Amino acid sequence: MRYDLTPETRALGYKLLTATVTPRPIGWVTSVSPEGIINAAPYSFFNVMGDAPPVVALGIMDRPDGSLKDTARNILSARDFVVNLVSRELAEAMNVTCINAPPEVSEIDVAKLETLPGVHVSAPRIARAPVSIECVLQQVVETGPAQRLLIGEVKAIHIADAYLLNPERGHVDAPALNLIARMHGAGWYAHAPDMFELERPVYANPKD
Ligand SMILES: Cc1cc2nc3c(=O)[nH]c(=O)nc-3n(C[C@H](O)[C@H](O)[C@H](O)COP(=O)(O)O)c2cc1C
Repeated sequence: MRYDLTPETRALGYKLLTATVTPRPIGWVTSVSPEGIINAAPYSFFNVMGDAPPVVALGIMDRPDGSLKDTARNILSARDFVVNLVSRELAEAMNVTCINAPPEVSEIDVAKLETLPGVHVSAPRIARAPVSIECVLQQVVETGPAQRLLIGEVKAIHIADAYLLNPERGHVDAPALNLIARMHGAGWYAHAPDMFELERPVYANPKD
């Protein structure tokens, strides 16, 4: 079966892409509104996109009524944000923060979360998150009339000490983070991946 995607098949394209491009990491983004309200919301159109400089990208669609989501509105005005990663024990709190609360209501309060101040950014991080990534907005790419990619340059990564095997060498106990990821459909998630290792092949020139 082949599905050709056009503007008219938007809903089908969303369904097919989000059901197949899985698992997707969840960026639990904290940002601050111009009025000083702390906002938190999950974004699974998220990933690391380069390392020199280190950058991450968030894909944010407008709301159905055409207004900016609070996260986009805040980042475009404050020009920074924090991406917190979500462990299994934080999944329910993360889910609470995708509530469509108005800008004057902080999802941080609704989900009963605590935050710690950012070091390089105005946005705070979620205290219980095992990993938090402080980002300064680098570029905004308009990918459609009602969606944009926000590219952030990473200024600092906070990793809870319990997950560091060798802090000096930056060795992280990645499985212990127990991060969750977005799967297909409206409410499916994955965690604790069934891992395997592959050695990276090195091309050997037959003439050598
Ligand atoms: C796990 C998860 C991932 C999500 N990923 C995205 C995404 O990548 N892009 C997006 O525009 N909305 C995404 N959403 C929806 C937003 O989180 C939702 O619209 C939220 O209310 C936005 O909050 P805000 O207005 O405080 O930014 C996702 C929701 C969930 C539960």
